[in-house]
Amino acid sequence: MLNRRQTLAGLGAATMTGLASPALAQSVSKIGLILPMTGPFASTGRQIEAAAKLYLAQNSGSFGGRRIELIVRDDTGTADVTRRIAQELIVNEKVAFISGFGLTPLAFAAAPLATQSKTPMVVMAAATSAVTEQSPYIARTSFTLPQATIIIADWAAQNGLKKAMTIVTDYAPGLDAERAFRQRFPEKGGELVGDALRVPIRNPDFAPFLQRVADTKPDALFVFVPSGVGAQFMKQFVERGLDKAGIRLIGTGDVTDDDILNEIGDAALGVVTSFHYSAAHPSPENQAFVRAFRAANPSMRPNFMAVGGYDGMHLTAETLKKTNGGDGTQLIEAAKGMSWVSPRGPVTIEAKTRDITQNIYVRRVERVDGQLYNVEFATFEAVPDPVKGR
Ligand code: PHB
Repeated sequence: MLNRRQTLAGLGAATMTGLASPALAQSVSKIGLILPMTGPFASTGRQIEAAAKLYLAQNSGSFGGRRIELIVRDDTGTADVTRRIAQELIVNEKVAFISGFGLTPLAFAAAPLATQSKTPMVVMAAATSAVTEQSPYIARTSFTLPQATIIIADWAAQNGLKKAMTIVTDYAPGLDAERAFRQRFPEKGGELVGDALRVPIRNPDFAPFLQRVADTKPDALFVFVPSGVGAQFMKQFVERGLDKAGIRLIGTGDVTDDDILNEIGDAALGVVTSFHYSAAHPSPENQAFVRAFRAANPSMRPNFMAVGGYDGMHLTAETLKKTNGGDGTQLIEAAKGMSWVSPRGPVTIEAKTRDITQNIYVRRVERVDGQLYNVEFATFEAVPDPVKGR
């Protein structure tokens, strides 16, 4: 104890006389990572935290010579808590970034604080198109629902699925997906049938809605449910016999999320979705990412939330490097127009929208070496958010 105190005192003196070792002179940047670590969306928090920590472990030297202190806080998926934590991290911890944001309402709750304090806000999960418009300090490394949805709408219309129905979770990203599908599918020659079904986000019971799908008998049912809810949806889809009735399930890839795909089991086989990430993406960058992620987290398979967290940390590192640890305005400026090769493929943060342009893949659930995967079979390159454009 005495030794430690003496050492610290000695080092303090050295610092004051300008004799600090390089290690001591290194400045620290704090990153506040606000995530649902408990509650119904805890899988999102777990995935993003694991990936962010992996990026840090692999790239601690990539932040422009700065030491990164990651502060992870659990908002339980509740907007009031997100706002309180963001405020506390900005004011007391003086974080350089607020990051994470597992659901759209949580990103909306924090956005005004990013604007007021000029703190860059890296959205790693929330995927409603309008999120990036809530503050000029937001950049996004996840995706947007319309971006993924238009691709599956096109695929369905071009692959003999003439009549489609929609079912979404009743909150902003679900309504975004519903709007995109219901606009695009008829444009491509498809026909919408039945009502636009919307299921409550809290304690969803899909059964009565799926009964209406069974009665309407569309060729295809388009679904959006947020990450973590897919297993429950799929179970009820099969229990109602909709697969046997010949109703093809299509959707954005949230429903066949890599985190829960094996848990869903054979019911998922053949489901076609469009998305920006699959753990089975066959690039060398992704193979290295999946291998490292699993080595660090043996019981987990990385999903799209993980890649959003990993890339969010990459964006953070690159902006700190580019600005030599600039202020919030310089950091968000530095993010604009940045491109890199992510495990998901090439990505760009658009200068005008601060949103992500990326490949969208069409995938089918298949069994590979005894495990279920979303196997990509078509690629649409460099798709921007279709609502805001480039
Ligand atoms: C969102 O709330 O924006 C959200 C959450 C989970 C998803 C997609 C979007 O899988």
